[in-house]
Amino acid sequence: MNFDDIYLKAGELINQPIYSVPPDLLQNAVETIRRKTPKSAEQFERAKQLIPGGSQHMMTCKDPHSITIKRSLGAEMWDLDGNRYLDYLMTLGPVILGHGYPQLMEEISNVILEEGSATGLTSEWEIKACEQIVRHVKSVDKVRYFQSGTEANLAAVRLARAYTGKKKIIRIGGAYHGWSDEFVYDMQIPFSGAFQAAGIPEEHFANVIGVGPNDVPALEKAFEEAEKNGGAAALIVEPTGPETGALPVHPDFNKTARELCDRFEALLIFDEVVTGFRMAMGGAQEIYGIDADLTVFGKLITHGFPSSGALGGRKEVMDCLAGLVEGKPKPFVAGTVAGSSLTSAATYWSLKFIEEENAIEKANEKASQLCKGLNGLFDQLSLPFFSHTCASLVHFEITAPLYVDIRNPDNIMEALARKQAVDDLSTVFLAEGIQTKYGARAFLSMAHTEEHIEETLTVFEKVLKQLVQQS
Ligand SMILES: Cc1ncc(COP(=O)(O)O)c(C=O)c1O
Repeated sequence: MNFDDIYLKAGELINQPIYSVPPDLLQNAVETIRRKTPKSAEQFERAKQLIPGGSQHMMTCKDPHSITIKRSLGAEMWDLDGNRYLDYLMTLGPVILGHGYPQLMEEISNVILEEGSATGLTSEWEIKACEQIVRHVKSVDKVRYFQSGTEANLAAVRLARAYTGKKKIIRIGGAYHGWSDEFVYDMQIPFSGAFQAAGIPEEHFANVIGVGPNDVPALEKAFEEAEKNGGAAALIVEPTGPETGALPVHPDFNKTARELCDRFEALLIFDEVVTGFRMAMGGAQEIYGIDADLTVFGKLITHGFPSSGALGGRKEVMDCLAGLVEGKPKPFVAGTVAGSSLTSAATYWSLKFIEEENAIEKANEKASQLCKGLNGLFDQLSLPFFSHTCASLVHFEITAPLYVDIRNPDNIMEALARKQAVDDLSTVFLAEGIQTKYGARAFLSMAHTEEHIEETLTVFEKVLKQLVQQS
């Protein structure tokens, strides 16, 4: 589905009443989960005493309790009670070879057994990992590891400021760049400003400028305004558009972003935490044909092993991190286990196997099949929903919450209700043994099979029929 069709369909969908999950359907799902997962329920009771909210991850479905996973393999997981789940969360994106890919497990185990967990000194894996990244991503000459995508993004803006001597960071509304202070602004929902910024003094946003997705005039104006007050150090984008293309980027946007950065002497930062080595070995930038000045990596670069964050870029920018660029200050960055032998061996072997297995192509193909199947189902049931892909990530829009324009305050409740409907849907899918990314997305891997896709479509048909009958 192309850019115009996606926005057209989404525009139609948000003019329809919300397809909320009816209370009976939700209640049945919650009861099914409760009945099937007594051991997880027990764990959740213990976890609540120890962990705020009872789980470490915000993506865990807690209705009625989080599921405790005991085993994972390929595209499937099993909980403590022995229930099997078809997994479309895939650790939130890193896993494309499938869970427990045997050769990867073996190689990493060997590294741990030989070198231990981390030494704080250099290991040969560090060099091998960086060589892999530099070999594949054209705009990257040098790489520095951090401990998460959040940290790597934080380092990217600090480096951009040190290198350019400018202050402002321009970002696109709706994108997620991690949870560091300055990035909890316009996060996940375009124009949400400091909505989720409890605990962050508003002064932290003094040098952040949010611009709506694909709004080129506003972007140009942001650069001009920045010039009058400290200048723009960087524009940071997810090259696919916010939330890995949930709000897709216009085909010309990245080129325009590059031109504006060049014109205003700002750095272009591509946040490729999700897209690097999932969309292409050269990242999304290979597909769009645009070179970033700095690229942020995470997730795929360790395939789920800790700790996954890295920053890459042009030599003369990256060398600033070591104080090697004449006339440029050295920004301070650090991290106890950054680039450990475990982390860097995980990069080396993961990227090697992803390339050798042609995992990207295989996962993309499965994603296309699922997307096609879903759109066929929506047509067959005469429903206004739609699905589109961003490489191996399948988006399926049932309520399209991100497309509601919350600049109109009357729409805020509407957007929240649409988001709630999607959350409820994820609970219904979970009760049917399907783990989605909050009821709206599915990460495919090369381990997903045609049988898995058939199974998914059967579950969707059942759920959607109930959704429509009872709405
Ligand atoms: C595009 C993007 N950037 C950054 C991050 C933050 O990465 P991490 O969770 O490793 O801190 C995420 C996490 O989902 C992401 O999707």
